[in-house]
Amino acid sequence: MARAAQTKDIDSQRQDYKDRLRKLGISPLWDQYRDLLSIEPQITSVPHIWKYDELRGILMESGDLISAQEAQRRVLMLENPAFQDQCKATETLFTGLQLILPGEIAPAHRHTPNALRLILEGDGAYTSVNGEKTVMHYGDYIITPNWCWHDHGHEGTEPVVWQDILDLPLLKSIGTIFYESYPDEQFPEGPPPGDSLHRYGSNMLPVGLQPDNLNSPIFCYPYEKSRETMEALSANSELDPYHGIKMEFIDPTTGGPAMSSISTFLIRMPQGFKTERYQTTEGAIFTCLEGKGRVVIGSGDAEQIIEFSPRDIFVVPCWYPHRFEVDENTYIFEGTDKVVQSKLGLWRERRGNT
Ligand SMILES: [Fe+2]
Repeated sequence: MARAAQTKDIDSQRQDYKDRLRKLGISPLWDQYRDLLSIEPQITSVPHIWKYDELRGILMESGDLISAQEAQRRVLMLENPAFQDQCKATETLFTGLQLILPGEIAPAHRHTPNALRLILEGDGAYTSVNGEKTVMHYGDYIITPNWCWHDHGHEGTEPVVWQDILDLPLLKSIGTIFYESYPDEQFPEGPPPGDSLHRYGSNMLPVGLQPDNLNSPIFCYPYEKSRETMEALSANSELDPYHGIKMEFIDPTTGGPAMSSISTFLIRMPQGFKTERYQTTEGAIFTCLEGKGRVVIGSGDAEQIIEFSPRDIFVVPCWYPHRFEVDENTYIFEGTDKVVQSKLGLWRERRGNT
């Protein structure tokens, strides 16, 4: 009896203490200790897929409702179900689908978030980065680095759709977002199309070049070229049991990742290939470019199977065990926050069950 009274007494003393702390704008660490320092990552985002066939129609509707100029960027954000209205696909990355119609211009601006475009439908549109135009083709990966002027236009005849991936949530969390509109609709024309690829992407570099050690000076990594490389390698490569053939897009001036805050990869898995269970701390956005298959995420009662086909976009969050199975020769583009985690000494992987 005395013990129960004593427990009640300490409980009420603690509550009274916490109430007084709260009035001072402080709180006890011991209440949240186990949540803050979890044994393994506790992640808010959840696995999710956006099926292109389901999105295409509603994206095209936006073309009748708002112009690219009025919208600045006509983008439907693909928000993780755990992050509604937060513009986040993962903890650190934003992704969306952008539509541009023939004759439209998405006006020139620049911002501190890094952005990449992955072209998913149509030909004839272009992105201009610091005045260098890049004409878009299916699967091309285009970079618009931090604080570079960029505008988009469309000189073709069919709607063009691309996927945007930005480090926006990461920058928002550290409060370093700046934005500026260019006074004119388009940035003045600069080097000819393809100049950066010729100058920096041909296994030669200009003598005396000083790399900026941040983002690649190449604005476009054409899918045709990357795919040709992977096809050639596939005839003469051992498959990584966890990835198939997986190549990272790099900055040729440093050999490091092509972007300072988003790691980018192209994965090729041959028909019938099944990867082993894999876990990594990088939060990943995958986009199927060719082929089809499924990713099995989690295990036991929590197992989820996500079927994907071309243009589908899906998220595997940080530290979710997953494995792939593909029914055809399959190409997948992947964007993650590995480069940021690596710079901070945080990136980890676990191959298999150990
Ligand atoms: Fe932009």
